[in-house]
Amino acid sequence: MEQIVLRHIQQIATPEGKTERKGKEMNQLHLIADGAIWIEQDRIRMVGTDKEVMAAIGEKDAIQWIDGSGKCAIPGFVDAHTHFLFAGSRAEEFDDRLAGVPYLELLARGGGICSTMQAVRETSEEELFHAGKKILQDMLRYGITTVEGKSGYGLNREDELKQLRVMRRLDKDLPLDIVSTYLGGHAVPPEYREDSDGYVDFMLEEMLPLIKKEGLADFVDVFCEQGVFSLEQSRRILTRAKALGFAVKLHADEMSSMGGAGLAHELGAVSADHLLSIRKEDILRLSTGNTKAVLLPATAFCMRCSYAPARELIAHDVAVALASDFNPGSCFTYSTALLFALAVIQMRLTSAETLTAMTLNGAAALNRAAEIGSIEAGKKADILLLAAPDYRFLAYQTGMNLVQQVIKDGKLVWN
Ligand code: NIG
Ligand code: FE
Repeated sequence: MEQIVLRHIQQIATPEGKTERKGKEMNQLHLIADGAIWIEQDRIRMVGTDKEVMAAIGEKDAIQWIDGSGKCAIPGFVDAHTHFLFAGSRAEEFDDRLAGVPYLELLARGGGICSTMQAVRETSEEELFHAGKKILQDMLRYGITTVEGKSGYGLNREDELKQLRVMRRLDKDLPLDIVSTYLGGHAVPPEYREDSDGYVDFMLEEMLPLIKKEGLADFVDVFCEQGVFSLEQSRRILTRAKALGFAVKLHADEMSSMGGAGLAHELGAVSADHLLSIRKEDILRLSTGNTKAVLLPATAFCMRCSYAPARELIAHDVAVALASDFNPGSCFTYSTALLFALAVIQMRLTSAETLTAMTLNGAAALNRAAEIGSIEAGKKADILLLAAPDYRFLAYQTGMNLVQQVIKDGKLVWN
């Protein structure tokens, strides 16, 4: 049986549990000094002080030893909201936006999401696969061991299926785990420009049943926003998705306060994402349910917007997760170092809350908290060793990628 033991780790820092940590619990990490982690196959067998773990290991043959001295071990990062699979770039648009052209105006002109849609439609399945592979391999370097990926750049039958199939292939081919989300409700494609309800009908009648039948997505999501999909359209799509057995998410209250977070709560969505413009009453609603708040501060940073009210959400006992929102338009970065720094410096989370939000709560936002997101016996061995003695260096060494070794499913996949 394959075994790895990480020894003399200066600090193990991890949230604990098989579900999300809400409110104050987000700040509680389990810390072990001079720790060790015993891995058997793809699972963690034991975590403790070096002394405890060594006492428990009997037969010492056939064990691979990794020295953790001077390093900190944390769970692999779970990036619970990305649009990582796309073609082309939108560099010109970035300059236009910073010069003052609104994001939604670019989309209304047929640019934005629709310009990436055009590029994806013109890209073969094979090319898309290679583009995705390159990005995912680089994400590993930043310590991302599980990533969610959304479709939404095909916006017709064939090209949405193409995106979803490529994600399933990438999941099999690469060490990272990929959770896929059908986001046909990302923008109204040109074919339906004058008939967005017709496009919603097409998703309900054709796409959702087909994707379910083929097992091509774990989640369904909608971009609920002024001029994109209304609250009522979002409700129709997600209600049908739920009836078919999908778990659901929502891009909610990003630019306009539309009550998206309230809808996510009403539908029992696994997460409500963005929330820059969430209404006070919807914060109160979220505080009573199980819908996780997935905050995406790198998008707010790139769009020069103010940040989501993270402290208020935590004060109301909501489980906050942090994700990159990596996409070619509003946020062309998946830097976990940038994300960590923005959360601590700009959103005023503590480093402990941020670590919880990027690991266990990210896992919970993907319905995977029982399996990943913390360093505990029984969980998948998804572990990072940092070139730092303490987890607080993740913010303190601002914007620096401290990830030195990545263990995914019990294998050293990046070193
Ligand atoms: O989450 N808001 C909608 N979707 C993405 C942007 C995608 C794009 O611009 O291509 C987001 O920010
Ligand atoms: Fe998004």
